[in-house]
Amino acid sequence: KTEPPISFDPLRSVAKEMKFLTKNIRDLLGSGHPMLDKVAKYYTQSEGKYVRPMLVLLMSRATAIAPKETRSQISPISQRGIDTPFAIPSILNDSNPSASQLLPLTANDGLLYESTDPDAENILPSQRRLAEITELIHTASLLHDDVIDHSTARRGMPSANLAFSNKLAVLAGDFLLGRASVALARLRDPEVTELLATVIANLVEGEFMQLRNTAKDEKRPVWTPETLTYYLQKTYLKSASLISKSCRAAALLGQSSPAVVEAAYAYGKNLGLAFQLVDDMLDYTESGAGLGKPAGADLELGLATAPLLFAWESMPELGTLVGRKFANEGDVEQARTLVLQSSGLEQTRALAQSYVDQAIDAIKDFPPSEAKEGLEEMCTKVMKRRK
Ligand code: FPP
Ligand code: MG
Ligand code: MG
Repeated sequence: KTEPPISFDPLRSVAKEMKFLTKNIRDLLGSGHPMLDKVAKYYTQSEGKYVRPMLVLLMSRATAIAPKETRSQISPISQRGIDTPFAIPSILNDSNPSASQLLPLTANDGLLYESTDPDAENILPSQRRLAEITELIHTASLLHDDVIDHSTARRGMPSANLAFSNKLAVLAGDFLLGRASVALARLRDPEVTELLATVIANLVEGEFMQLRNTAKDEKRPVWTPETLTYYLQKTYLKSASLISKSCRAAALLGQSSPAVVEAAYAYGKNLGLAFQLVDDMLDYTESGAGLGKPAGADLELGLATAPLLFAWESMPELGTLVGRKFANEGDVEQARTLVLQSSGLEQTRALAQSYVDQAIDAIKDFPPSEAKEGLEEMCTKVMKRRK
């Protein structure tokens, strides 16, 4: 008789922390204004996938036993993982003496965050707070995104723009960003603050890039390799920036050595790119009921994502549809059919898989631990997910 497989869930190493997440987030979002309180907490009613906080907690635990190096000073700008095509304004760079003379404050002074978990070993209070901050920033971006995308559903519920109004959804998103900023400031870590502030700017930059399918606005655009480069840059800014920079921030808060910080960042960047590629694939392959949000939304919004961009490479006739953002009667259906006939979905999956492989490779030198296995498991989950 064969033995049943041993059930082993590496993600259980952070399961306990996750229990406190929703409560802590709701506490961060309290407002004396009853309506604002209600709209701000709306998306905390149904738990999201919590991908970002889970990654922060796993990275915190996995790096807790990796090499350490006390940071005496904020790293030079070139080492801060701010790889956006849009330059940081010079007023914010290192030539500004006040920026480099920031005092090296400890990540947490014990007063900033009270742990509710008695078995909190390995994860610092500041790192758990970071996990909550990432979810706040992500949720804020969803509140804004659903307004921009005229969406009607999110997390299996009517989206906030529909349940309340565009105005209240936008303001609630701003409120979440405000509270995330307060929580971030209280970590008393200028480098981590800079990283997460850059994420907020990157989200907007990614959304602006998405307003155009290609670098240039053309009537009949032609596929070039830059088409894909532009899409991937946009994808980094809108999705991978938050995941990569929060993984980096988790390692920084844990006083990890520079090599470990870089590895954490590379893991997050590659996983983040894979995550969004799969998201763009699911928009073609899954139903709205399964996703908990509208499916097939990208073409309706005029957006050409990876599956279509790969299809376009071998089907030049798609250029005309891309140029008019699938706006004519029948365009969406025609584009969809062509994508499904092409190898666009397979190529998207293969590209996502190559990023996931790079993510796993980035952390190969981490010491063996349950959390490291959890980070690897997250890669498998991203590839297998259906929502
Ligand atoms: C979801 O993408 C949206 C994002 C990943 C980021 C959206 C960013 C903004 C709206 C910029 C402003 C944000 C802030 C925090 C200032 P999607 O529409 O492709 O996915 P969906 O299917 O989940 O809606
Ligand atoms: Mg959307
Ligand atoms: Mg959107």
